[in-house]
Amino acid sequence: MSIDLSKVRRDTPGTQKVCHFNNAGSALPPKPVIDAQIAHLELEAAVGGYEAADQEIKRIEAVYDSIADLICADSRDEIAIVENATVAWDMAFYSIPLQNGDRILTSEAEYGANFVAFLQTAKRKGVIVDVVPSTESGELDVIALDAMMDRTVKLVAVSHVPTNGGLINPAPAIGQITKAHGALYLLDACQSIGQMPINVREIGCDLLSATGRKYLRGPRGIGFLYARQQIIQMLEPPIIDHYAAEWTSPTTFMLRPDARRFENWENNYAAKLGLGAAVDYALAIGLEPIWERIQELAIKLRERLSERPNIKVMDIGSQNCGIVTFVVDGECPYKIMQQLRDKGINISVSDPSSTLIDSTRRKLPPILRASVHYYNDEGEIDSLLDALP
Ligand SMILES: Cc1ncc(COP(=O)(O)O)c(C=O)c1O
Repeated sequence: MSIDLSKVRRDTPGTQKVCHFNNAGSALPPKPVIDAQIAHLELEAAVGGYEAADQEIKRIEAVYDSIADLICADSRDEIAIVENATVAWDMAFYSIPLQNGDRILTSEAEYGANFVAFLQTAKRKGVIVDVVPSTESGELDVIALDAMMDRTVKLVAVSHVPTNGGLINPAPAIGQITKAHGALYLLDACQSIGQMPINVREIGCDLLSATGRKYLRGPRGIGFLYARQQIIQMLEPPIIDHYAAEWTSPTTFMLRPDARRFENWENNYAAKLGLGAAVDYALAIGLEPIWERIQELAIKLRERLSERPNIKVMDIGSQNCGIVTFVVDGECPYKIMQQLRDKGINISVSDPSSTLIDSTRRKLPPILRASVHYYNDEGEIDSLLDALP
């Protein structure tokens, strides 16, 4: 089934105003996402925040079902909805009982927020952080990963799609290895969710973190964590309140049995409902057609950029996603980003510090990042190319 482009563009008011190629930053939301948030904010203003949440409880609860459907989780009880992907990832990571001498394996393209948490834990607990080398084409090398696995490896934590390019790490192959060796597998799906089909059962991850505002086209300030039912009991969140844990007596508490032990009581319900609307919108279109069109547009953009003698495409990986990165000879990327923004074309710059291991290895300067979504059209790609030096 192909995507009805004129409908999705009509549904997306932002497409009338800008050519938006910053979907890996924060995508343009469709009308149902905007409406869901505004309607709830208006309800809160009209009847009171607590009363509005009570009134909308069924729709709020249904967001968990939508997310479980999106990632093919076994149950809604495996989903926690939190502030963003970093909180989701941190709540998962800091819950894992790691000890002196335990090893964490990660990828070269790992995201900065995750890596500093590794380093802090190494400093605090004496765990060892090892980076799995990449193949020649740029993906995490699963043969090397397999060879590095032993009983000291307690966690493999990898970014599915890194922030700085079109690379897709081999998530299911990593899952087979972690399963064979009994290590936990935490997948950062912040950039892949909403862009491509994600099936946690096929991938075999124990934990997965994601955000709302990027390829899912949801609101800012909302994200979610998936925690596989069978491992929830062994994970004690680093921060709890009396929603995450029942206060059972003056001296005791009991953690919730489900993934909501990673949440806390106060919530941005408008954003939560907006996230649910975003997930439902993506599911209604279908993740397969979304993924197909994103790849098609990204291939076109990469080809057109590569035709320019003054432009070098920087993406690595044997199969690429919608994040297209490039440099323009002798030009400051931040200046180009601003010049384009002045013309109503949004792209971003990926700074080496957000993926320091990969950036150091590839000697990357700040690079331009144009991330395409299915609602972009060919005319917008023409406009972007016309506007580049
Ligand atoms: C790979 C990756 N992981 C995690 C994050 C953090 O997401 P959030 O800003 O929602 O916490 C980002 C943000 O760009 C990212 O690209």
